[in-house]
Amino acid sequence: MVLLKKAELKGDVNWRKNRKMNLILLGAPGSGKGTQALKLSDKYKIPHISTGDIFREAIKKKDALSIKVKQIVEEGGLVPDDIVVEIVLRELEQESNSKGFVLDGFPRTLGQAESLDKSFKKHLEVLYIKLEEEEVIKRLSGRRICKKCGKGYHLIFNHPQKENICDSCSGELYQRKDDEELTIKKRLLFYEKHIGDVLSFYEKQGNLFIVEGNKPIGEVFSLLCKAIKE
Ligand code: AP5
Ligand code: MG
Ligand code: ZN
Repeated sequence: MVLLKKAELKGDVNWRKNRKMNLILLGAPGSGKGTQALKLSDKYKIPHISTGDIFREAIKKKDALSIKVKQIVEEGGLVPDDIVVEIVLRELEQESNSKGFVLDGFPRTLGQAESLDKSFKKHLEVLYIKLEEEEVIKRLSGRRICKKCGKGYHLIFNHPQKENICDSCSGELYQRKDDEELTIKKRLLFYEKHIGDVLSFYEKQGNLFIVEGNKPIGEVFSLLCKAIKE
């Protein structure tokens, strides 16, 4: 990475050992952010912070946040920037002693990227999983998730050993409310409206890596790990 290489040039021989894995995963709905974030979290022993999971959990618990976001999330809209930014900064503060983090689903607008940049001054590595719309729709319509542990499956590409049962915890699998065709289309519209600005923002900072998402899960993961090590 650009900044880390500078550290290396300065003679900091421990830069690789001391380095924090502050990772951001960008990509369309269904591009595999959650799937890959779990694998990165497991490999690098860093927490996985998913804004989508935080909202779904709040909706399940019917807490104060739920009142503000339930309808927006279930109908495929975007939660206002100030709400999301506050939640993410709080999460990052809690994880300040960890070896880094993998952020999944944030930032989603230029405003969110700028707010993060203002408040979080450490180096970020931004990984964009590129996937075309046709594939996104196939992925989302076949997705199933474990009710108990949240692990994601796919009816065709990544199916559980026993139908409708999680391989890891034997929990029951369910389909997300926002994975209905019309809601998927709406989510895609919001994604397309904002992603260009977010990518340009990180491209200018020189810390953006683009990875081809239309490959099997293991191959995408290898590409991401390779990008991080560069
Ligand atoms: P969020 O939960 O983040 O939804 P999303 O961005 O639409 O992304 P998904 O979770 O649907 O897809 P994914 O990329 O994680 O794909 P996955 O790995 O599951 O956000 C939900 C909502 O919360 C938003 O719509 C919004 O309302 C709100 N929100 C969240 N963050 C916000 C923010 N920052 N600002 C404002 N609002 C916000 O994979 C999909 C499927 O494909 C799975 O079945 C998987 O098994 C399969 N699969 C994965 N990889 C592969 C592969 N390589 N090959 C074949 N199949 C694969
Ligand atoms: Mg996800
Ligand atoms: Zn499970």
